[in-house]
Amino acid sequence: MDLLKYQSDFLEYLQKQDFKREPRNLYEPIEYILQLGGKRIRPILTLIASDIFSGNFKQALPAAVAVEVFHNFTLVHDDIMDDAPLRRGNQTVHEKWNINTGILSGDAMLILAYQYFENYKPHIFQKLAQLFSKTALEVCDGQQLDVDFETRNDVTIDEYIKMITLKTSVLVAAALKMGAIVAEAEEEQAQHLYNYGLNLGIAFQLQDDYLDTFGDPKTFGKQVGGDIIENKKTFLYLKALEIANASDKNDLLTLYNGEEKNNEEKVKKVSSIFKTNNIPEHIQQLIEDYTNKSFKHIEHLNISDGAKEALRAFGKNLMNRKV
Ligand code: IPE
Ligand code: IPE
Ligand code: MG
Ligand code: MG
Ligand code: MG
Repeated sequence: MDLLKYQSDFLEYLQKQDFKREPRNLYEPIEYILQLGGKRIRPILTLIASDIFSGNFKQALPAAVAVEVFHNFTLVHDDIMDDAPLRRGNQTVHEKWNINTGILSGDAMLILAYQYFENYKPHIFQKLAQLFSKTALEVCDGQQLDVDFETRNDVTIDEYIKMITLKTSVLVAAALKMGAIVAEAEEEQAQHLYNYGLNLGIAFQLQDDYLDTFGDPKTFGKQVGGDIIENKKTFLYLKALEIANASDKNDLLTLYNGEEKNNEEKVKKVSSIFKTNNIPEHIQQLIEDYTNKSFKHIEHLNISDGAKEALRAFGKNLMNRKV
């Protein structure tokens, strides 16, 4: 299993896709966001899954592109919803163009993603489309909860985990299962891989939330502190409310209820409360717990020891990422 080979073959295949269509105002933003890079985690997982069950990863390239195009569509709309200025170290689509462009180019990407399934025979096509539609709706559910939570003061950590499972981890899980579907793996085996992805995806979003506050602005590629500015009810915030003393708790509540109008000051004050309450350590522990939980599902896979080790290495890598 060679991750670099998956990545380079994926990029080569992506490069061949024709997004140089008219009207340019619709397709240029699509090319822009897809060329900005990103870690390409989801398509690589699709290729890995196909490879471990069939020894053939190239047959999964169209499905991998579908997953990555869909993911980028969610980012374009997510950046509008989160009022985010930066993506992968560059201007977000709605900042570079405008909100209407972000909406319509995003819509087109969702449809383009589906078209990639037309590369597969009907019985595979049907399974892929079924999983994809279910997953895409779940992502919408998660995104709506994420927005609803911004104005709620009674969000629980369980609700938060449910929300990130929907907005983020179901897609990581589906990316893997799509590779298994293309490889025509047994349903029970595909499901174990899905559950590995589901837990890994939760760890992944927890790490994303950690980096949003504690990442290095020079390398992170997104606006550090964006979640605090938007009053996102992340694990950092919810855990701090749970364990902080009355004074810190009160400060947090007022800061998240619009008390501090200066965003820079707000980010500074909130991160300092997180730090004094050892929230970074708490979230790192939870990331490790979910990563270990994901590893349990690897045991049920009828694959080589080398492939199992590679799946564990992938999870450990994600846990230590800085972007
Ligand atoms: C960002 O995903 C959105 C989340 C679900 C956290 P990634 O961190 O995979 O973004 P890119 O594609 O690498 O830029
Ligand atoms: C993103 O969550 C989830 C989806 C894009 C569906 P975030 O809002 O935390 O993602 P980033 O941090 O903007 O990449
Ligand atoms: Mg966002
Ligand atoms: Mg968001
Ligand atoms: Mg984030």
